[in-house]
Amino acid sequence: MALYAIGDTHLSFGVNKPMDVFGGGWTGYVDKLREGFSLLEPEDTVVLCGDLSWGMSLEQAREDFAFLDALPGRKIILKGNHDYWWTTAAKMERFFQENGFSTLELLHNNCRLYGEVALCGTRGWFYEEDQGGHNAKIFNRELMRLETSLKAAGEREKLCFLHYPPLYQGYRCQEILDLLSAYGVRRCCYGHLHGGSHRLAVSGAQNGVEYTLVAADYIGFTPKKILD
Ligand SMILES: [Fe+2]
Ligand SMILES: [Fe+2]
Repeated sequence: MALYAIGDTHLSFGVNKPMDVFGGGWTGYVDKLREGFSLLEPEDTVVLCGDLSWGMSLEQAREDFAFLDALPGRKIILKGNHDYWWTTAAKMERFFQENGFSTLELLHNNCRLYGEVALCGTRGWFYEEDQGGHNAKIFNRELMRLETSLKAAGEREKLCFLHYPPLYQGYRCQEILDLLSAYGVRRCCYGHLHGGSHRLAVSGAQNGVEYTLVAADYIGFTPKKILD
């Protein structure tokens, strides 16, 4: 049994917006994902760190969920900035149930358990728009979601999963970093960064937290092992 993470699968079975057009690593990315996931066992858990599907609605994303559901392992999903299909937890859970997608679980205002380890997280704050100052309402909502998730973990060891990087070369989202340290988070995985942005990503230990970029194109479309 192992825990993995990968972000940004950017599937588009239902809307024909394949990422292959970007070339480079994205060429044949659906096959690469299938192959990357073939290393997992059904009893493994994988956190999908947002930007799962280009579908604009659950309906449009159905085939993408079918693809993900058919891959081995339990999948814990969080929201990215392109997940326009995202709706209320009740609607999404009903949709998964009606379609028989039994391996998908939401990470949103809650935490999920991997053994005794708590998996916490939320989308995070979109750092590209940080220059103009925070949109206080959206920003505070994300902070509250993250704290709700961390609180739900109680005294358990906590791992944090975000879509947006809380740290980037020349950028730090101090409020998120403060929450991670206040709750004793040791490890934080994030996605969102693609192509040329990879070289400015922060990886490794910073103030006691280990940061790992798990955007699919950064890790060769193979889920990154986080814990045994
Ligand atoms: Fe992305
Ligand atoms: Fe993104």
